Amino acid sequence: MEVIVKETYEQVSCLAAQMVADQVRRKPRSVLGLATGSTPIGTYAELIRMHKEEDLDFSQVVTFNLDEYVGMAPVQEQSYRYFMNDKLFNHINIRKENTYVPDGLAGDIPAACEAFEEAILEHGGIDIQILGIGGNGHIGFNEPGSSLSSRTRVKTLNAATRADNSRFFATPDEVPRYAVTMGIGTIMDADHIILLANKESKAAVIAAAVEGPLTAMCPASVLQLHPSVVVITDKAAAGLLRGEYPTAPHTLVVK
Ligand code: PGA
Repeated sequence: MEVIVKETYEQVSCLAAQMVADQVRRKPRSVLGLATGSTPIGTYAELIRMHKEEDLDFSQVVTFNLDEYVGMAPVQEQSYRYFMNDKLFNHINIRKENTYVPDGLAGDIPAACEAFEEAILEHGGIDIQILGIGGNGHIGFNEPGSSLSSRTRVKTLNAATRADNSRFFATPDEVPRYAVTMGIGTIMDADHIILLANKESKAAVIAAAVEGPLTAMCPASVLQLHPSVVVITDKAAAGLLRGEYPTAPHTLVVK
């Protein structure tokens, strides 16, 4: 794992966007794995800026999102399809048919999960996967205890996750109980992974994921086994790390 500690959230977002932009410029048909949640919003904003001001071209890019709530329609504001359109896709020149988000309304969810996995393979696999991390160590909606080799499937959201996400709903009861999520095995198949975290509230889980034991109870800890992971955090989220980490990447040259 390459851990990079930046001073601010803005710097975290700019570095992540720069890495994604480098990938897209190098390979216009890149396949990007994308995440929802508060953390990647700054990265998406910077990618939009690069598209508008620096001609970053998404016309051939294909994207796969990690997860979606079961029972949530794309027009509903809390759906992850709505989030992605609103925070990124509507503002860049990506073709909507090249953006895959798991279908929370599928009649046959296991078949839809299988088709989602097949679509990733048909596009040649994910080049770079962006991840946030839940306070409980989840990546996607792979809650603690998830199989480390799991594929795309339905997961039951645990109480901590539903409480975290209740900020987007009128009442905590409205938070869905189930989600479709890429599995940990699916995520681990990506060529490169960028895990983003900011704020002090993520300090304990970042320490557990980066320096703690590899355990299904902190699903993000499995990333320690992946050959190409960059963890980018702000100072606050790095607060409980014991190792010494640089402020700039060594694998990718960033101006
Ligand atoms: P956040 O969520 O980016 O809103 O903190 C991350 C996650 O739960 O995976």
